[in-house]
Amino acid sequence: MVDFNSKKLIIAIDGPAGAGKSTVAARVARKLGYVNLDSGAMYRALALKAIEGDAAFEDEDALVKMAHGSRIRLEPTVSGNRVLLDGRDVSGRIRERDVTEAASKVSVHPAVRAWMVARQREMGLGGGVVMEGRDIGTKVFPDADLKIFLDADPVIREQRRLDQQRIKGAPAESMAAELRERDLRDRTRAASPLVAAEDAMLLDSTHLSEDAVVEQIERLAREKLAAKG
Ligand code: DC
Repeated sequence: MVDFNSKKLIIAIDGPAGAGKSTVAARVARKLGYVNLDSGAMYRALALKAIEGDAAFEDEDALVKMAHGSRIRLEPTVSGNRVLLDGRDVSGRIRERDVTEAASKVSVHPAVRAWMVARQREMGLGGGVVMEGRDIGTKVFPDADLKIFLDADPVIREQRRLDQQRIKGAPAESMAAELRERDLRDRTRAASPLVAAEDAMLLDSTHLSEDAVVEQIERLAREKLAAKG
């Protein structure tokens, strides 16, 4: 019997904030008939729970306990993931400034990451997924069929995030500084820092349109699929 699942790829897209991962992952998934999973949304959901439960972002034990008692669900949609925390739709709330800041802080803890990685592996194991994050190609799926490291010039990334936040009416003044601080934390933490996997394809979206990035990844994916037979 033909196992159709074996032909479905696992595609990892990693990179810093503002590089365009979410939109690109959603569009690539749609083109291939795959699901897009936003691993950062899971860290954000836990961060929200920590905020609401008054847990300190430094308290690894408390955070892990919280994670174990949580149900974090990602529902892929054409424009990203709908995120359910213990059955409640928190998709909008987790994009706010306080949660964004907190997510970067709770994600430094190895035990929190271990819990997240285990959940993410369960979600993507069957293939047919485009998972985006910081450590998908290095830790979650080191054997992913296709690994993309999507980057862009920091000034461009800051501008993109600023534009997104402005739409939501958030103050713009310190946004760029906060993004730089989060970037630095994500890249320099001891546990699974943001780095490109050795076998990742590096894509710099600074001078590339979103369409061009999506097309390149789709082309690479189709080549992988053809090679799988
Ligand atoms: O992708 P994002 O900006 O929504 O992620 C929020 C935070 O979660 C980010 O500051 C780093 C962390 N994160 C991570 O450590 N590992 C991932 N795979 C995804 C996100």
